[in-house]
Amino acid sequence: MERPAAPYDPAEHDPAETRLTITSPEQMRELGRRLAKLLRAGDLVMLSGELGAGKTTLTRGLGEGLGVRGAVTSPTFVIARVHPSLGDGPPLVHVDAYRLGGGLDEMEDLDLDVSLPDSVIVVEWGEGKVEELTEDRLQVVIHRAVGDTTDEVRHLTLTGLGERWADAGLETLTA
Ligand SMILES: Nc1ncnc2c1ncn2[C@@H]1O[C@H](COP(=O)(O)OP(=O)(O)O)[C@@H](O)[C@H]1O
Ligand SMILES: [Mg+2]
Repeated sequence: MERPAAPYDPAEHDPAETRLTITSPEQMRELGRRLAKLLRAGDLVMLSGELGAGKTTLTRGLGEGLGVRGAVTSPTFVIARVHPSLGDGPPLVHVDAYRLGGGLDEMEDLDLDVSLPDSVIVVEWGEGKVEELTEDRLQVVIHRAVGDTTDEVRHLTLTGLGERWADAGLETLTA
């Protein structure tokens, strides 16, 4: 008799983790284009890193890779911006959680005119605010070498949490 597949228990799995070094804004954008190929509707990507780390630059590449309408820019004066797909892929919802005080409730109040489970959601600075959207999420932490303002080197850690990311091919990004 075949055993039924055991439910996925996050406690029994190490999160999928990939580390990368990026040396220019263009390379960051290219990483976004490649990462986009791994993404699908319902995915949540959380970007962290100080101001100027490259979160929006990475998101710009994600938008290009997903083939969505409109240039991705810093959503400084809006909390979230929806970029519809130019094809039949998922829309990109780009959120700047810095201005999202109350977290998820506020996000649902935004009236984004888009279904979040049907979208790829990219959140800058969302720690502690949007985790409850889904147990599965990709966390991207961007570190910038301290002390040298002209330095274009960035160290990234991509951590895929949950079953969605257990075997999603994050390691192919290092190639
Ligand atoms: N390796 C790099 N990756 C991304 N941006 C870089 C890199 N090196 C320098 N930069 C510059 O740093 C800035 C990053 O800005 P942005 O992507 O808006 O950051 P954030 O959204 O994290 O505040 C841009 O001016 C970009 O040209
Ligand atoms: Mg930004």
